[in-house]
Amino acid sequence: MSPINKAILLVGGKGTRLAPLTTNTPKPMLKIAGAPVTEHQIVKAREAGISEIVLATSYLADVFEPYFGDGSRFGMKIRYAYETQPLGTGGAIANAAQLLELGANESLFIFNGDVLSSHDLIAQSELHLKSGAAVTLHLVEVEDARAYGCVPIGADSKVLQFLEKMDNPIAKTINAGCYIFSNQALQQIPKGAVVSVERETFPALLNSGQNIFGYVDGGYWIDMGTPESMIRASRDLISNPALSKATPKVINHTVMMREVQLHASSRVGEGSYLESGVVIEANSIVNGSIIGENAHIESDVLIENSYIAPQSRVTSGSKLRGEIFGF
Ligand code: GDD
Ligand code: MG
Repeated sequence: MSPINKAILLVGGKGTRLAPLTTNTPKPMLKIAGAPVTEHQIVKAREAGISEIVLATSYLADVFEPYFGDGSRFGMKIRYAYETQPLGTGGAIANAAQLLELGANESLFIFNGDVLSSHDLIAQSELHLKSGAAVTLHLVEVEDARAYGCVPIGADSKVLQFLEKMDNPIAKTINAGCYIFSNQALQQIPKGAVVSVERETFPALLNSGQNIFGYVDGGYWIDMGTPESMIRASRDLISNPALSKATPKVINHTVMMREVQLHASSRVGEGSYLESGVVIEANSIVNGSIIGENAHIESDVLIENSYIAPQSRVTSGSKLRGEIFGF
């Protein structure tokens, strides 16, 4: 069990790159592999021993509480922080932290709300407590670091710089979106202001000589900020059910919710997720795709690595590959 048992989940971003999927649903509430992204994250946190979590909401804030309630359904305590204007990642953290009673020497986890990862939260917290760092970042290696926070580290795992989204990244290690903050580091974020933890807080901590450590882990990791990565994340979780205990039962490489009608001559597989009420007529093939609630797939259709909008209709003979359809 993790010795650090409180957390903030950042779920307030607009999810612009996922539009139009995020017009009515905030990115973290989009469902992949049978559950909202936030639920996959909450269940992972609980499994590591985190018992209290604050959702830092902003964009479409009202949809979280009706779903997660007080958290008792998930065996934990869940509360909700609201922002009158988007406060940025740092401002959101400072705002949400007011709902947690953190001891002077206590630390807490902070999660970006669009990341799925198999990394070991307990090992990360042990490194943090052993090193006495101000902040301990989960880092992963990627080939192209331009879309991320580039985080070069020294041989001792100490973070040398934090360079958010640079054109010519100087390292392959990037911020993977799971931080542990000591209470002291947390207190240095101004309250009630718009602050970016990546562009302001991390560089300021380093400039003032405080230690940030990197916990590098080579396990599964994905930021589902684009439609392609969201579809991929759903497929990955279904193909490897060990990645999330929130994924419902996988049968024949597929997650099917209630009242799906699948014609006997049609085939569904390779990590597909069919929401409730989906109808698939004869001789159709669905692979690696998300099919929204009550969508109707007519006969002789091929759908691969695509996202089909709820309530939409795919007409007979259509071939969809890597498409967002019906929005
Ligand atoms: N409450 C609240 N308020 N949350 C916010 C706000 C805000 O104003 N702005 C962003 N967030 C949340 C988003 O919902 C998301 O969960 C998280 O903060 C990060 O925002 P993204 O918009 O997803 O950032 P990114 O993907 O471009 O970059 C971040 O993640 C990368 C890893 O996936 C950065 O942390 C990078 O450094 C990192 O490499
Ligand atoms: Mg993101």
